Amino acid sequence: MVVADIQADLGAGLAREIGGEFFQLDVASDAGWTSLMAGVEAGQGRLDVLFNNAGIVLGQSIEDLNLADWDRIIGVNLTGVMLGCQKGIALMKKNPGGPKGSIINTASTAAYAAIPSDPAYSATKSAVRLLTKAVAVHCARAGYAIRCNSLHPGATDTAILAPALGAAPHMRAAFDAMSPMGRMARPDEIAAVALFLASDEASYVTGAEYLADGGMMAGHPGI
Ligand SMILES: NC(=O)c1ccc[n+]([C@@H]2O[C@H](COP(=O)([O-])OP(=O)(O)OC[C@H]3O[C@@H](n4cnc5c(N)ncnc54)[C@H](O)[C@@H]3O)[C@@H](O)[C@H]2O)c1
Repeated sequence: MVVADIQADLGAGLAREIGGEFFQLDVASDAGWTSLMAGVEAGQGRLDVLFNNAGIVLGQSIEDLNLADWDRIIGVNLTGVMLGCQKGIALMKKNPGGPKGSIINTASTAAYAAIPSDPAYSATKSAVRLLTKAVAVHCARAGYAIRCNSLHPGATDTAILAPALGAAPHMRAAFDAMSPMGRMARPDEIAAVALFLASDEASYVTGAEYLADGGMMAGHPGI
């Protein structure tokens, strides 16, 4: 098991917890991915599952968008996923027994319904959805047993929401109310879907989009 993250303390801590190996990676860096894959090949000898899960939010409306920040979020949320798919496929193709693997790209409900206060985030997550399908069909047509699917969580209680949750006392209730279940997801509820997509149980699932949003996108809000 390999953990890669830009935050060395956090990533190394998680790797220790699960008995894995840690590599520091900026997902927006082509050279970073090349070096990560070389490390995985040397240490593990194969790559079975790649979870492209790193992501950031921006919180700038279209009127406030700063170009450098736009480039940064595109780099992390979209270029990072593209590079992960590209480098991941190259290593999965070398797997003993032939090209095989599962790639999971984290998108969001923001791929379907835009966040007006964060058009850049919405644009990247929407793009990840079709990037995933293009990768899936390419691999299937090439005869690789490499699957690629997108995972679309709803509001989930993680660090990425901390600034928004801390902005005002009512924010937690507002995030909870986004789902008709009346609560945010726990991270393990999202991880369980990723685990299914990673597994051979999902052997006929590719190019698919998996919502795990507590029913958020299933009904008209407030009616
Ligand atoms: N939490 C939610 O409500 C929610 C909802 C929908 C989708 N998502 C998506 O889920 C994914 C995981 O986010 P999370 O909720 O666990 O938030 P998080 O902030 O806890 O985790 C994001 C991780 O990405 C890492 N990261 C950021 N920039 C990076 C870079 N350049 N290179 C490598 N790693 C980098 C961070 O260090 C962090 O560990 C993201 O893609 C996010 O957009 C989250």
